[in-house]
Amino acid sequence: MNIHTYEKIWLIGALALIVGFIATVTYGAAGAGVAMVDETGGTIDANAVTDDEDFGEPRVEQVGENEYDVYVIAQQFIFRPDTIVVPANSTVTFHITSIDVIHGFQVVGTNVNTMVVPGQVAEITVEFDEPKEYGILCNEYCGSGHHDMEGKLNVVPEDEYEGESE
Ligand code: CUA
Repeated sequence: MNIHTYEKIWLIGALALIVGFIATVTYGAAGAGVAMVDETGGTIDANAVTDDEDFGEPRVEQVGENEYDVYVIAQQFIFRPDTIVVPANSTVTFHITSIDVIHGFQVVGTNVNTMVVPGQVAEITVEFDEPKEYGILCNEYCGSGHHDMEGKLNVVPEDEYEGESE
C-alpha cells in the first residue's frame, strides 16, 4: 500500500497530538505531587457526624513518624478546626466531610482542592516540605456566609511543632 507523503505527515502529527494530550492529562492527575480524591474516603451518615469516632472531635492526629491524619468538618460557615497546625516534612491526609450542605475545601497555593459533600468523606494526601502559612477557602456557594468561610493551615518548623491542634 502506498501512502502519500503528506498523508504520512498528517498521520504522524495526529498521533503526536494524541500522545501529547494523554501525557498532559496523566501529568495533571498523577505527576503534580498531590494525590487525587478517591473512593477510600467512603461514606458517613451526615446526620451523625458529631457522633463519629473520628469526626466527633475534628483534629490533627499523628499516625506515623512523619504522618498525620486531619479530620475536618465543613459547615455553614466555618471549618472545624479553623486553624490546622502540622509540622514541615510531613505527609498529611485530610479527611473532610460536611454536616449540612455542599462546601469546598481548597488549600490556597496547593493542588488540595475538593468538593465536600454531606454523607461523603473527601480524602486527600499531600506532602508539606517547607514551613508556610496557607489559607483555606470554601469555593462552593453554600449560603449567605459563603464568602466568610475560611480557615488556616500552618505548616510550622518541625522543632516548633507542639502536638495536636484543635
Ligand atoms: Cu462553605 Cu461556601
